[in-house]
Amino acid sequence: MTRIVHISDLHFELPPERLKPGVRQVLDQSAAILKALQPDFLAVTGDLTSYGCFDRNQLSGVRRWLDGLGLDYLVVPGNHDLSANEIRGAAYPIMETYEPVAWERTNFARSFDQGPLVERTLDQVTVLGVALREGDPDSTLVQLARRLDELSGPALVLGHYPLQVTKEQGVLGTFGYQGYIEGQRDRLLKMLRDQPLVRAYLCGHVHAQTVVPLDDHLRQFSAGSLGLGASAGWIIDITQERLEIRSIRGAGPERFWPDDLCGEQDPLDYHLWCGTEPIVLSLVT
Ligand SMILES: [Fe+2]
Ligand SMILES: [Fe+2]
Repeated sequence: MTRIVHISDLHFELPPERLKPGVRQVLDQSAAILKALQPDFLAVTGDLTSYGCFDRNQLSGVRRWLDGLGLDYLVVPGNHDLSANEIRGAAYPIMETYEPVAWERTNFARSFDQGPLVERTLDQVTVLGVALREGDPDSTLVQLARRLDELSGPALVLGHYPLQVTKEQGVLGTFGYQGYIEGQRDRLLKMLRDQPLVRAYLCGHVHAQTVVPLDDHLRQFSAGSLGLGASAGWIIDITQERLEIRSIRGAGPERFWPDDLCGEQDPLDYHLWCGTEPIVLSLVT
């Protein structure tokens, strides 16, 4: 058996912590939980930092933190690590500073020394991670399309942004891919739907732990925000024939969004997946 643990939205800060005092302590406490699970690798779907696209030291800091876990890991950037577009950058300077430069010169690429498409193979499962910016200046989707065409066994895809709305009501009815990668979303979603070997799309960004169908063969999982809440993620156990997916909790807050943004739903249920049985996805093709 092989085990992946999926987490997201660490929102790591170097001292002094300006945006979320105490986040480093939450992450350090969560590290013990992650290590105890003994994953073969960690999948981390972005917002590793809160202002890494403004200050490269933040990204170097979170890389040191991840390296210090002693676990293999695969990361993709979120909008706080690699801003999605100029409009977001202008509206949220510091948090989402847009870098109008080639991929290789972005803070993220220089800190993690990786391309816009990353890949790992575990047993028979291929894991592909995508870094996306509006307009796809890094040709990430061109590269992904090529790899999806070449697949001969099951695959998981990692990205920061949900491709489907995660909640019917409340703030997450309109907060997801919208305004970030809207021009790429349909293209990416179609690619994943058209390749039946892709079994799951793992993402973050919404700071809630959700499961949404994208197609008959494909489900979207969002991991919550380990640092800010919902502090939760997913254990993905891979056997010969299936994926068994269970929820884990981190050491941080259970909730992120204020109660009045959670619609009619109970705020805790809004943030955390409340199933008790594992979610089972077949790997048989
Ligand atoms: Fe985030
Ligand atoms: Fe985000």
